[in-house]
Amino acid sequence: YFDNGNQIFKDARKNHYAVGAYNTNNLEWTRAELRAAEETRTPLLIQVSTGAAKYMGGYKFVKDMVADQMDSMNISVPVILNLDHGDFESAKECIALGYSSVMFDGHKLDTEENLAKTKEIIKLAHERGISVEAEIGKIGENEGADGGELASVEDAKTFVAAGVDKLACGIGNIHGVYPAGWKGLNFDRLKEIAEAVPNEPLVLHGGSGIPEDQVKKAISLGIAKVNINTEFQLAFQKATREYIEANKDLDKANKGYDPRKLLLPGTEAITDAMKEMIGWLGTKTID
Ligand code: G3H
Ligand code: ZN
Repeated sequence: YFDNGNQIFKDARKNHYAVGAYNTNNLEWTRAELRAAEETRTPLLIQVSTGAAKYMGGYKFVKDMVADQMDSMNISVPVILNLDHGDFESAKECIALGYSSVMFDGHKLDTEENLAKTKEIIKLAHERGISVEAEIGKIGENEGADGGELASVEDAKTFVAAGVDKLACGIGNIHGVYPAGWKGLNFDRLKEIAEAVPNEPLVLHGGSGIPEDQVKKAISLGIAKVNINTEFQLAFQKATREYIEANKDLDKANKGYDPRKLLLPGTEAITDAMKEMIGWLGTKTID
């Protein structure tokens, strides 16, 4: 059902473009992202965080929902289903469930333990043809303008030698809305890492809110996967707010309170935002 993405991301790294990794939060998100991928004829990596999976009813529910929507929408482009920022147990669960890709996020562990656990996940995943992403350094959360801990070149080499298929690196990037005075991506470190692991698809987390020129420069240096979540949440919220404002006095006649109407503008805004992002990333179309 799901592609593991290994060829897709290797091709992206080699040819200096990126494929977006788009988080899903519910049925509307899933549908909006599948539609954008199908209409642009580009591959889709759809991913779910542990929090979003819990909100929806679990990892199995998410897998079934994505698969069923692919069927009902006649999706013909490759779809990769990825666990985003999984801990050890979640990664094992998603491997057993048939996700085609998992991220094991061991940034809270010391390097040795992160590496040991990553290796265990790689073994389990690769036996089943599943792709693995690991994290080195730390993607920023609330550290302020500098972002989290920078990834080291040494760790990049070690994790790639251990067999990870994609590598997420802390390079000054931050999850969520970027703080005022953010210092920007650390291109020097990205360049050093990219030179040390010349074929490895590198992953840029916290893709929402990074200026277009920085995203493009990061891709030219070796980023092949860009993770986007907050951007679509903001787009959904804005379109929904505008719809509610515009329909305040009409709702009774138009049944604007019907969720099938109420959630539509936001859903369409996600599709539009994703199409714009596909343009930024230069995602290659399927032949
Ligand atoms: O893993 C998910 C991403 O890194 C999303 O980050 O919400 O800042 O776009 P974002
Ligand atoms: Zn992330």
